[in-house]
Amino acid sequence: MGTRRRRVSVIRSRSKPVKWDDLRMEFISNCTADAISNAAQALIDGHLVTFPTETVYGLGANATNEKAVSRIYSVKGRPVGHPLIVHISSINKLDQWATDIPDYAIKLAREFWPGPMTLILPRTDLAKDYITGGQNNVGLRVPAQPIALALLKKYEELGGHGVAAPSANKFGAVSPTTAEAVSEELRENLEDNDLILDGGQCLVGIESSIIDCTESAPKMLRPGAITEEMIELTLEKKSEKNFEKLEIKAPGLLHSHYAPKAKIYFNSIAEPGEGFLALSKFQTPAGAIRLASPTTLEQYAKDLYSALRSADHQGLAKVVVQLPEGPGLAEALRDRLTKAAAR
Ligand code: TXA
Ligand code: MG
Repeated sequence: MGTRRRRVSVIRSRSKPVKWDDLRMEFISNCTADAISNAAQALIDGHLVTFPTETVYGLGANATNEKAVSRIYSVKGRPVGHPLIVHISSINKLDQWATDIPDYAIKLAREFWPGPMTLILPRTDLAKDYITGGQNNVGLRVPAQPIALALLKKYEELGGHGVAAPSANKFGAVSPTTAEAVSEELRENLEDNDLILDGGQCLVGIESSIIDCTESAPKMLRPGAITEEMIELTLEKKSEKNFEKLEIKAPGLLHSHYAPKAKIYFNSIAEPGEGFLALSKFQTPAGAIRLASPTTLEQYAKDLYSALRSADHQGLAKVVVQLPEGPGLAEALRDRLTKAAAR
């Protein structure tokens, strides 16, 4: 028997390019209000909706529907028991999901939401074990991407509470930053009435910073576009670094993750026919295949996953990467690249 053609709709939009700094400005998306309403209703009805965020595309499900959430695991091939981030439309919904919220977490939420930051907080009864992996805390994020925000608002208007959404890739693979990449990763496993919302290329390009707010001081669990320096400036106190603490329960913190099929090597010389990824100031070695030429760290993050995907599309066995140096976003890039290189 041949495989049945799936009726997963892709709703397209043309997103205009915006800079990270512009994200707080009003942005009129080209996904129609009708398309967003249909997607919100699909979530309410227990279907899966993949949607753009400013970081990477998410594979969304109604966070209060155990059956819908369980499909996230089967579609991704993700081991059960790993916690999911719940996406909400605004800081005003925080109390529904989190309790005993420390003042510093409120400050961070006020400063960086909507934005590429996830806060880990003590959970309320709404956050069930099937969301938190049985932990007493829950990951929460208000995304800044206008289609994501419009979807969440509409979904909440229809009576929904929270959208659970991991990155819309197979477990361990490179996160998708375009709707085409989502389709490539998951289309086979999505079902009739699931939806892919197309919002163009993600602006930030790497996953949100994850900050553990369950103790007296914040801890960075996964570095991202909201950097330790930005957090320190906001809180005017040093945040203690701890990348080990939740290693087992947080797959994004595992040793190997975000990995393409090509093998990644650091700071060596690319031979002819090998992939090469570096800031534009580094010249392409003779015969090497340049995968991206970002001029800034922001551009590096935005292009990173599509560059790794393009290495796989071209069937490259080896990619040589020049790791960016320094703190901030460079640290987040090194984190992803080191995990992409690990087997
Ligand atoms: O930018 C992002 O965060 C994207 C977009 C879609 O929002 N989402 C994302 O989700 O990257 P995911 O599941 O691919 O990665 C989330 C990471 C995982 O490593 C997960 O284990 C960790 O966050 N996480 C989620 N809830 C947690 C919790 N309660 N405690 C500790 N870690 C948690
Ligand atoms: Mg992920």
